[in-house]
Amino acid sequence: MFVVGACLALGAWSTFAVAEEDCEAPSNILLQTAHQSRRDGEMMYHWPNGRGRFPYFAVSEHIGPFDLNNSLSWSWHHPEGRFHTLTWGVNIDHEMNVYLSAADGFRKFDMDGKLMWERIILPRTTMNTGAIYQGKFFASDTDGGVEAVDMKDGSRVWYTKLASAICEDNGFNMVHQGVLFAAADCSPPCNYDKTCNQLVKALNATTGKELWTYKPDTAVWNFLALFPDMETVVFQDMSGKVYKLTLNGDVIWKAGGLNGTWTDGGAALGPNGMVYAVNNNHPPEGLSPVGQMDPPTMPGQVTALDVVTGDIVWQVTTPRPPNNAPAVGKVQGWEGLSLVVPLCQQVIKGAQCDVHVYNAKTGALRWVFHGPTQKHLLQAGDAEGTQTRIDSGVRSWCLPNGWSAPTIAADGVVFVGNEDGLFFALRDSDGDGRAIGVDEVRAFDTKAAFSGSSSPALAPQMVAVASCDSLFVFKN
Ligand SMILES: *[C@@H]1O[C@H](CO)[C@@H](O)[C@H](O)[C@H]1NC(C)=O
Ligand SMILES: *[C@@H]1O[C@H](CO)[C@@H](O)[C@H](O)[C@H]1NC(C)=O
Ligand SMILES: *[C@@H]1O[C@H](CO)[C@@H](O)[C@H](O)[C@H]1NC(C)=O
Repeated sequence: MFVVGACLALGAWSTFAVAEEDCEAPSNILLQTAHQSRRDGEMMYHWPNGRGRFPYFAVSEHIGPFDLNNSLSWSWHHPEGRFHTLTWGVNIDHEMNVYLSAADGFRKFDMDGKLMWERIILPRTTMNTGAIYQGKFFASDTDGGVEAVDMKDGSRVWYTKLASAICEDNGFNMVHQGVLFAAADCSPPCNYDKTCNQLVKALNATTGKELWTYKPDTAVWNFLALFPDMETVVFQDMSGKVYKLTLNGDVIWKAGGLNGTWTDGGAALGPNGMVYAVNNNHPPEGLSPVGQMDPPTMPGQVTALDVVTGDIVWQVTTPRPPNNAPAVGKVQGWEGLSLVVPLCQQVIKGAQCDVHVYNAKTGALRWVFHGPTQKHLLQAGDAEGTQTRIDSGVRSWCLPNGWSAPTIAADGVVFVGNEDGLFFALRDSDGDGRAIGVDEVRAFDTKAAFSGSSSPALAPQMVAVASCDSLFVFKN
């Protein structure tokens, strides 16, 4: 009975009802959740967290334009030139205002692109996509602090120093039930770089007070917290191990992962009671001219776990590194829930970037999009802007993942940005196992890569996405 209830709740929320078979536990919780979070404002905004909206992250009940190349409404880059800052991701509020997280600070635009305010925080810089919650915008900075500003005018509400530094990966600040999450403590050891964020911190979003600290077994990278219900949080570390904690910081379970490995990826949460994690199957091997990168064709892994028990339900090997967070939702041409997994090893000239879409319930491969191969040594827009960025006081390179995080619209179109600049709308509408041709693949050339914390953000008839240096808003 609860199972059907949850499906109805989901069906009403999304124009794509999910097949009953995909509605397994824990559904009574989801029902309560939807009600309560509408009440407390958590679901009031269209895209409150960088990765979307509780309880079904990375999907939207809205549709964006499929023909991206003919639907650009407006764009923004730094007035002195696109290389004067780096942009990380967007949030959208209930009035369709767009909040842009950038290395040099935060900006708010109205739905037509008019700048409402900007808060430049240099010489501090940021690296995350922020969050909006109950009238405030939140973001971490490289000085080890988290700042809350008023959504109305960008003025500071509180600032809390969490550590001497927070590493410059590209993760997310996420808020749930008044609790704000941030990765902190940029220090060794790290499977990839010299330093990584060792700690997960929870703060009171109203006051900025630190509530608790949790040290995962392995450091986190591109930290992304997701919320299965009203009381808990799940996230993965850089080795793909998943942790489920209460919002008070008590461990419920931890499972999966491959010790010693590193992925840029994060977890995904389905409305089917499953959490999906990604990992690479081997330690970084130092093949890239700019760092310790994985070979482009080395396999990784996707693991589906029962979010209640932490039991592994299925695992599949991916032919390339799964270096960003997947999305779970209903895609065009296919029944039930699908898992959209971007695959690519970045910063390797000639490396092929693909998107694989799996049956979320079984792990069976459904369709593939063969994306671009990396053209140059660095990704689109990166080498060209180096000196300007250094002179502007932001980091010299974007050096992002091969793909942005993907988002699934209500009509089952997948939006995702590729490191060589193309922002894609994808669908396998004829269900033949591949997205190919103008009926199924459209793109707009942003001329820059996409940070790992960049998720296409949807609002009614609108999709907004940040490339590494600009904001693009497309409308139907
Ligand atoms: C945050 O602080 C406020 C004010 O003290 C309090 O009312 C609220 O319950 C706190 N929230 C959390 C999640 O601790
Ligand atoms: C990972 O492997 C290292 C080296 O063998 C070991 O010291 C460490 O305890 C392992 N960590 C986990 C979480 O298993
Ligand atoms: C977008 O449209 C322009 C003008 O018609 C065309 O030259 C370009 O190739 C198109 N780009 C993509 C990515 O489809």
